[in-house]
Amino acid sequence: MSYQHLKTTRDGAIEYLTLNRPDVRNAFNEQVIAELIAWAAAARDSAARRDLRVVVLAGAGKGFCAGADVTWMSKTVHYTEEDNLRDAMAMSRMFAALNELPVPVVGRIHGAALGGGAGLAAVCDIVVAEERAIFGFTEVKLGILPAVISPFALAKIGRSAARELFLTGARFSATRAREIGLVHEVVTAGELDATVARYVQELLAGGPEAIAAAKALIPQVWGHTVDAAMPVAAAAIAGRRVSREGQEGLRAFLEKRTPSWYQRVSHVKDAKETKDAKDDRRE
Ligand code: COA
Repeated sequence: MSYQHLKTTRDGAIEYLTLNRPDVRNAFNEQVIAELIAWAAAARDSAARRDLRVVVLAGAGKGFCAGADVTWMSKTVHYTEEDNLRDAMAMSRMFAALNELPVPVVGRIHGAALGGGAGLAAVCDIVVAEERAIFGFTEVKLGILPAVISPFALAKIGRSAARELFLTGARFSATRAREIGLVHEVVTAGELDATVARYVQELLAGGPEAIAAAKALIPQVWGHTVDAAMPVAAAAIAGRRVSREGQEGLRAFLEKRTPSWYQRVSHVKDAKETKDAKDDRRE
């Protein structure tokens, strides 16, 4: 599939998905939203065929993503109420589709991740940020609010940080983003791609079905009492341990060998990543 505002590169079971509107800092409009929804559907199919195991989400140019396209949003004043709602629902579907991908998504954040850009960080499973990256739920500064991204952001940063950051719209550092759970690791520009590759390698060492099941389990258990969670958790492990993949993993451990699903991140990609990291340092 070809996209106007997304760049996709497949390296074995790894999909590198890059938001590609660098002139507007990868802000997303209705076309980007439609492309991301289409991409997520294709990624889901690819994961079902076992072709896809990990996604790396990044931004082209100077930053990750400046959120919703302000020019596009300002034009919605001419929409009917119904059109406005349909438009906002499409944006919600985009975030939900990324959030619910059955494969892990690693966010590679450099430059700005503001508004919906911070929302995109929130739907990643693992986020690695360059130390100079800037985050913010800046919507109120524009007279709007972080509504569509709120379920995803709240699940990551919790109510207390949301009350501060949604209401002030203040920009905050990568270190603060890590403190509130939006980011998992903060590194220098030179270390960014190697750190992402390390996470990808970690994910390629785990059973793909087990990882998908672990990802699905979290929202099923989160917020429930232990009593309510117990049957869900018990059913999840009972199914997994007798599965082909579960049996392969358990046997591989006992036989002191690597399981059949194990893959290494290719060296070709490492070389490209080193080059990209140098490009970032020059920016
Ligand atoms: N929507 C539309 N255009 C945007 C944009 C957005 N969210 N964010 C940046 N742009 C455009 C700018 O208008 C500018 O366009 P121009 O070259 O025609 O003037 C271009 O992208 C580059 O932006 P600039 O501010 O010059 O780049 P920068 O690297 O100095 O700063 C940001 C980048 C992202 C920090 C800054 O652009 C910014 O704060 N953007 C607003 C982010 C925001 O509040 N998002 C929430 C939206 S709900």
